[in-house]
Amino acid sequence: MQKVLVTGGAGYIGSHTSLVLLEKGYEVVILDNLCNSSEESIRRVEKLTGKKITFYNVDLMDKEATLEVLNKEPNIDSVIHFAALKAVGESVQKPLIYYNNNISGTINLLECMQETGVNNIVFSSSATVYGDAKEIPVPETAPLGATNPYGQTKLMMETILTDCAKANEKMNVTLLRYFNPVGAHESGEIGEDPEYPNNLLPFVQQVAAGIRPKVFIFGDDYDTPDGTGVRDYIHVMDLAEAHEAAIAKMNGVKVYNVGTGTGYSVKEMIESFRQISGSEISAEITARREGDVAMLTPKAELIKDELGCEAKRGLTEMITDAWHWQSQNPKGFRE
Ligand code: NAD
Ligand code: WQD
Repeated sequence: MQKVLVTGGAGYIGSHTSLVLLEKGYEVVILDNLCNSSEESIRRVEKLTGKKITFYNVDLMDKEATLEVLNKEPNIDSVIHFAALKAVGESVQKPLIYYNNNISGTINLLECMQETGVNNIVFSSSATVYGDAKEIPVPETAPLGATNPYGQTKLMMETILTDCAKANEKMNVTLLRYFNPVGAHESGEIGEDPEYPNNLLPFVQQVAAGIRPKVFIFGDDYDTPDGTGVRDYIHVMDLAEAHEAAIAKMNGVKVYNVGTGTGYSVKEMIESFRQISGSEISAEITARREGDVAMLTPKAELIKDELGCEAKRGLTEMITDAWHWQSQNPKGFRE
């Protein structure tokens, strides 16, 4: 049985990935400081799978405590590194907190892995590393460039990981560049739980549930079919399965886009949510959000060709599962 250390495993994508790993027979150890999550997500994953998770409430900024976890948990085969701060707007306001947490946390983790001989790591990167991409759909080989401190941290972490692999031929690094993860596990027991949503779908979910009065559409004058921004939304369970595929087949440094290859506009997302949830969902057009691009969708074939991994769930499942989670857990894990 392979043993995987999941940093940030109590969070949105980490909890769904932990569930997939347990179902596939892996042993899961989670390290998370719960700064943006709740231990309840771990309990629910245990309940859904009927399996145990070893959980350490540890901050990656605390190198000694991180090393203690790796020493206590011998024979870790791979690390999946989700733990990071991820709010773009906040990163512009508080850049040092982002650089410190995301970069120092990653360096501490890599040092601890080196000291304990763990050589495989899958990293949560993001479409944000393409900045304002010129070529759409964007291939993995496109020029990189970030437009905010959060994106800079992702770019820097990609570089740090790649340099570490160059220096150590035993090391395998897979960088997964996620597009827009949405949805929830079909049980409705785990899902995304933001108190103040920054991303479109969690905001729409909360409007549909009556928690917020309306959704603001950030601009309808983009050069897109209906004037609103187009993104590639991927079901979080498809994304979780991509992580399992990645750790099952590590080989040097690999970089993959993780998306569906199909883009939807903001208006299309809201309309689908209205139809599936039966909620009215008031929407108002406002000014563009600074730093937003008109369209960002990936070339999504490489991960299919090399890892045999393809998104299976479409927009209806994404929204049905998001709504199931939201309507079943109006206060998320905070109840
Ligand atoms: P999340 O906030 O739900 O999960 C991140 C987890 O990391 C949280 O549980 C948090 O408590 C933990 N964490 C943060 N800093 C830590 C530290 N110093 N030590 C220990 N734990 C720490 O976010 P998510 O949406 O699940 O995202 C997971 C990863 O995927 C992040 O790296 C994020 O940047 C990346 N990503 C997310 C998206 C998205 O839209 N959700 C898109 C692209 C990439
Ligand atoms: C999607 C579309 C908005 C909210 C972000 C990060 C990226 C990655 C994924 C982590 C855009 C519009 C949004 C709202 C709106 N995260 N919108 N009203 O901006 O594609 O990507 O999350 O790595 O780094 O930048 O996602 O969900 O914020 O926006 O009209 O209240 O919805 O303008 O067109 P984005 P998003």
